[in-house]
Parts: sequence; C-alpha cells; structure tokens
Amino acid sequence: MGKIAIISDIHGNLEALQSVLADIASLQIDRIFCLGDVIGYGPNPRECIDVCRNFELTLLGNHDNGALFDPEGFSSGAERAIFWTRAQLEDTSKEDAQTRWDFLAGLPRTHRMDDVMFVHGSPRSPLNEYVFPEDIYNQRKIERIFGFIQKYCFQGHTHVPGVFTENFRFYSPSEIGNRYTLGEQKLMINVGSVGQPRDSDPRSSYVVLDGKDVEFRRVDYDPGSTRKKILGIPDIDDFLGDRLLEGR
Ligand SMILES: [Fe+2]
Repeated sequence: MGKIAIISDIHGNLEALQSVLADIASLQIDRIFCLGDVIGYGPNPRECIDVCRNFELTLLGNHDNGALFDPEGFSSGAERAIFWTRAQLEDTSKEDAQTRWDFLAGLPRTHRMDDVMFVHGSPRSPLNEYVFPEDIYNQRKIERIFGFIQKYCFQGHTHVPGVFTENFRFYSPSEIGNRYTLGEQKLMINVGSVGQPRDSDPRSSYVVLDGKDVEFRRVDYDPGSTRKKILGIPDIDDFLGDRLLEGR
C-alpha cells in the first residue's frame, strides 16, 4: 500500500499548504488524502483548490459545502469569509470558475479503504459533527460514533490532532511521542489542521499512515505572511489572521 499523507482543514492557507507539501515530498510520499475544508477563512481559496485537484482523494468539508450551498450554522465571521470565498471563485474566467465549482461539487463525503474510513467530521455525521477531546466524557456520544466505525477512522474538522480509543481515552500527539500503532482496538484519529491549527501549536499538522504505523507531523511555515494577507482583506476578520500566530 505504501505511505499515505493524510491532511485536512487547509482553509485557504497556501503558505501552510506549500510547507506541508514540501515536507511530504521530503519523505518521498506521493499519495495524499485531504479530509476536507480546502477553503473558508483563508486568503487563497483558488490556489488551494487547484493544488487539491492533484490529490488522490479530497473529501467535502463543511466550509467547502458552505461555499457551494448555504453556510448554515456558521459564525458571522466564518459566514462572511465564505461569501468572500465564493466571490473569489467567481472572480476569474467562466471556465476556471466552472472547473473549480465542479471539483467542489464532485467531492465525496466519505471514503473507505479496506477497514479504514475517512471523513471530515465524524463517522456518524461526516460533514458537520465535531468530536473534541473533551467528548471522551460524553460516553454515549463516543459509543454511538464508534458504532459507525468498522475498525479505524481518520478525521479532521476540530483542528485538534490526536487519537480517540473506544474505551474513552484521548491521546494528544505529544503524549504518545507523535506515533501510534493501529492494533486490535477500534480507533478514531484526528489529523489536525494544515491551515489553522487550534491546539496551541501554530505549526501545520498532518499524519503519515504507513501500514499500521501512524506518525503525527508538525511543519513550520510563516503564519505572519498569511496573517498579513488576511489583514488586507476587509471581509475576513482580523482575528482569523491573529489566531494563526498562536495556533488557537
Ligand atoms: Fe470543518
């Protein structure tokens, strides 16, 4: 099967995406799966879509869906960013606009590879459901979600990387030395976010799957340059730039 790089939540952050792609290339990995939210929040939606068109797999995220249809349940800042993103996708030749809309509209919500499932949010609600580390205290939620998993599930959406076990444990990457081996237990593995990490580490997060071995990786990029672009766009809240510096 070879190694697969699993990335998620790029959110229009081209600088972060390029740094992650360079890291992936340095590992000589050519299979890339993206778990959704290519756009929304960030200043380079068109460029990020064009990169993802070359990946083996890209799933639909709630922000991609919000740009395609209506941004339901979004905060006002996220909603304004979606409307700006939509305008960016339209602000090109008709042909380029159509190509990108067709790509987004064709994205699947889930993907299966043997006993491994890939989703954006959760196996129960692939597009929208969040599974946060503190949800391990909501045993009913975790039990029901694990009911949808055959064996292993990779996800994004919360921007917080880590491993969820069926017996209500959550391990952050630093607690497990950035490595985890897939075993007999069912698992949910959050790969974190490329373009807007929220676990107090501003570096981009992604995962390498090599057979049964999972490696969490962090990649440095220059969040200041992405922030600067965001501050120059009135329709994207300054906060969405500021948060990149702290990874929150
Ligand atoms: Fe998301």
